Amino acid sequence: MINSELKNLCVNTLTPLSEVLFKIQKYGKNGVFVVDKNLNLKGVITDSDIRKKILEKKFHKLKYAKDIMKKKNFSIQQNNAHKSAQILINTSKILIPILRNKKIVDFCHIQELENLIINNSKKKILIIGGLGYIGSLLTKKLLEIGYHVNILDKNLYGNPLKSRSKNLKIFIGDCFSKKNLSKALKGCSSVVHLGEIVGDPAVALNEKNSIKNNYEATNFVLNECLKHRIERFIFTSSCSVYGYSHKVCNEKSKLNPVSLYAKCKIACEEQILSYNSDYFTRTILRLATVHGDSLRKRFDLVVNRFLAFGLKKKEITIFGEKNWRPLISVNDVVKSIIKVLSSPKKKVKNQIFNVGSSNENFTIGHIAKVINKNSGCKLKFIPQIDDPRSYIVSFKKIEKMLKFKPSLRLDKSIKNMIKIYKNKKLQLNNRNYFNDKKIKYLLNKRN
Ligand SMILES: NC(=O)c1ccc[n+]([C@@H]2O[C@H](COP(=O)([O-])OP(=O)(O)OC[C@H]3O[C@@H](n4cnc5c(N)ncnc54)[C@H](O)[C@@H]3O)[C@@H](O)[C@H]2O)c1
Repeated sequence: MINSELKNLCVNTLTPLSEVLFKIQKYGKNGVFVVDKNLNLKGVITDSDIRKKILEKKFHKLKYAKDIMKKKNFSIQQNNAHKSAQILINTSKILIPILRNKKIVDFCHIQELENLIINNSKKKILIIGGLGYIGSLLTKKLLEIGYHVNILDKNLYGNPLKSRSKNLKIFIGDCFSKKNLSKALKGCSSVVHLGEIVGDPAVALNEKNSIKNNYEATNFVLNECLKHRIERFIFTSSCSVYGYSHKVCNEKSKLNPVSLYAKCKIACEEQILSYNSDYFTRTILRLATVHGDSLRKRFDLVVNRFLAFGLKKKEITIFGEKNWRPLISVNDVVKSIIKVLSSPKKKVKNQIFNVGSSNENFTIGHIAKVINKNSGCKLKFIPQIDDPRSYIVSFKKIEKMLKFKPSLRLDKSIKNMIKIYKNKKLQLNNRNYFNDKKIKYLLNKRN
């Protein structure tokens, strides 16, 4: 006889995948066990295996549990069951079967760690991707207001941080590594996860590499955060999950991603919200398209790109002038993250917030005209559309629930950038300023 909780998680090799999905959702243990009629374990299926197959466009070809189950699985023998929590922490798993010989008798799930002793909370934050466009400015501001910051970053685009603060530690490395994460998480109570390959063009370059770096790594980070008893986890998603829409999109709108970048964001969001935990406060921020100057420069974002080319080449070429985008300054993004970090947990727990301003939805053509007005550059409109994204977003929820409203409008942000860049030599051939160019270079170098 097995207990009813375990029984609910057992399927056989010919169980249809629709039933597998139903069980995963209903029982909230992030997976199921595939067993034969004698309860001998044949395989394990986790929700992250399913999401990965969906991203790889292979899921629709699969029918039964046997088509997706992992046959070689980590398991714990019953005589070691008393050590199961520690074993769970030491592996990268979140759900482990407990066996007597080959027969399943119990299981261990990450939720059980909730009852372990909580580490003494400190105001230290890990920023994954802290050397990036948003991360570098966020780090600077957090240090200024007294936080201690650890950064874990792959250093894809160089290190723009000059700070010698004793409250800052920088770890260079991939977050998809237990060793790197364990070091970087030490002493932290919150994690802001910004560390990804960012942007549609950069992510499209190599799908396998991007799914691993963006979806699988985020899933791994999440599991490690649970094991390290992290209290708050903020994930920066993107309003590009709305993709193409004629209606004003809010957090409850149907998602319509048109790129792998956005599809990975949705898979990460679902994974993040799938955990059943009272202790772990997760917040998803769907950012509007960001503009403005930061310590790390990005000239592959629509406003920054138009402005940099307008100043340097005195002309900008505009595709898809009628497409809509919501915008926000990088300063305001930093403020929104700090706002969430300092808000009462009950207000931000398991919430998705669009981050931006309802008054700052503009067409690409309008953005170009604002830059033309401020810089005097010529505009060249090309009727052909090379980017199918077009969406208008409502930001009422964050305004109402967290009293957050961006303060720097597009026109002012452009004026600020002109002041900063006017007398500087803008190196538009520096690949570190363009994510797609740098990722392409790194992928070619690797092959
Ligand atoms: N900038 C925008 O317009 C915008 C809009 C919506 C959402 N976002 C989201 O905000 C976050 C930060 O964006 P950004 O503009 O600062 O991008 P960025 O490219 O400037 O920064 C990303 C940083 O993550 C690091 N990184 C990448 N993969 C990593 C890994 N596996 N391990 C450790 N570090 C890794 C990179 O080295 C880089 O420093 C991303 O999640 C992005 O999707 C940005």
